[in-house]
Amino acid sequence: MKTEKILSMNGGCGEESYAENSKIQTVYLSRTMPVLHASLLDFCNKELPATVAIADLGCSSGPNTLLAISKSMSIIHNTCCQLGRSPPQFSVFLNDLPSNDFNTIFNSLPEFQKRIREENGHNFGPCYIAGVPGSFYGRLFPAKSLQFVQSSTSLHWLSQVPVELSDRSNKALVNKGKIYISRTSPLGVVEAYLNQFRRDFSSFLRSRSEEIAPGGHMVLTFGGRRVANPSTDESCLLWDYLGLAFQDLVSQGLIEEEKLDSYNTPYYEPYVEDVRAEIEREGSFTLDRLEIIVAPWDGVNGGHKYDRRKTAEMMAKAIRAVNESMIKSHFGSQILDSLFERFIDIMARDTKEVEHPSLVASFIRKS
Ligand SMILES: C[S@@+](CC[C@H](N)C(=O)[O-])C[C@H]1O[C@@H](n2cnc3c(N)ncnc32)[C@H](O)[C@@H]1O
Repeated sequence: MKTEKILSMNGGCGEESYAENSKIQTVYLSRTMPVLHASLLDFCNKELPATVAIADLGCSSGPNTLLAISKSMSIIHNTCCQLGRSPPQFSVFLNDLPSNDFNTIFNSLPEFQKRIREENGHNFGPCYIAGVPGSFYGRLFPAKSLQFVQSSTSLHWLSQVPVELSDRSNKALVNKGKIYISRTSPLGVVEAYLNQFRRDFSSFLRSRSEEIAPGGHMVLTFGGRRVANPSTDESCLLWDYLGLAFQDLVSQGLIEEEKLDSYNTPYYEPYVEDVRAEIEREGSFTLDRLEIIVAPWDGVNGGHKYDRRKTAEMMAKAIRAVNESMIKSHFGSQILDSLFERFIDIMARDTKEVEHPSLVASFIRKS
C-alpha cells in the first residue's frame, strides 16, 4: 500500500487537527532557522532571476505551512534590499499529498498576503502562491524551474511500508507486536526499513536534481539519528508506547493479533552518516551542511512544563493528528479512542524522557 493512499494529517482547525497539534514541528522549524538563514544569504549573493520560485514540500495545513515560506521570502527580500538590489517577485509552490487539506491553506491566503506585505514593506513581492498535490518521491515541477526548495518534518515518511515486510510467509520478517523498529525487531525488519529509506531518498534527490536549477539551494529537516543503532529509546520510545497500547487491545480481544503483526508504520529516522552516504552516491548536490537539531522531550507542549500525564495527553493528540488516517485504514475507526487512552496511561506510568533529534541538511545543486 502506497503511503499516499493512507497518510493524511487531520485537517481543519479543530481540537483534533494537525494545525492544533503541531507544536513540536514548530520547534523543529525554529531550530532549522540558522541553517535556512545561512543558505538563503549565500543564495542571495548570486545573481537572482526577476522571479524566485520556492517550493515547500510536505507543507501540510497549519501554522507551520506559511511560517516556513514567509520566513524564506522575508530573508530574501530583506537581504536584497540591504545589498541595494531590486528584490525579486516570488512564485511559491506548496506541495503535499493530494489528500492534504489544501482548502484550509487557500482560505488563509488573503490574510497572509496582507500580513506579509505589512511586515516587509510596500516594495515586497508580489508573491504568487499555488498548491501542488503529489508525492515528492516523484517529479512535481518542470525541469530547472525552482531556485529554492525547503521541507520540514516530512521526509521521514517513506513512500510505503518496506515491501519485504508485506511477505507474511517469511517469519524472519514479522515485527511481532510492534508497529515500527524496536529492540525486539528481527534484523531483517531493520534492514528492510533501511533499504526502503535508501530507495526513497535517492528517488527524492533524483527528482529534485531535475527540478532545481544549477546553483539553486535546498534545506531539508527530517527525523534522523545521531547514533548508528536504530532501536534506541530516542528513536523508538514513542512507537513502543503505541505498540504496547495496541498489544493491550489485542489482549482484550478488541483487535486480532494477526492484524497488529501486519501493521508497520511507513516511517524511518535514518542515521546521519547513511544520509551523507546517499547524498554522495546520488551525486547531483553539494552538501553544504548536515547538522543535528534536538527538540526537548516535552517540545510537544510548546515550551510549557506540564506533569507527566498532561504531557502524555498532548503527545497522544500530536501522534493521533498525524497517524489517525493510517490506523483507521488498517484497523477501522472504532479502536481509536481506546487506543489513545491506553497510550496516555502507558506513557504516564513510565518515567523515561528522551530528546527528539532531527537532521537538517543544506544543499546546492551542482552546475
Ligand atoms: C508532520 S507533517 C509536516 C508539515 C509541515 N511541514 C510542518 O512543519 O508542520 C508531514 C507532511 O508531509 C506530507 N508528506 C508525507 N509524505 C509525502 C510525500 N511523499 N509527498 C508529499 N508530501 C508528503 C504529509 O502529508 C504531511 O502533511
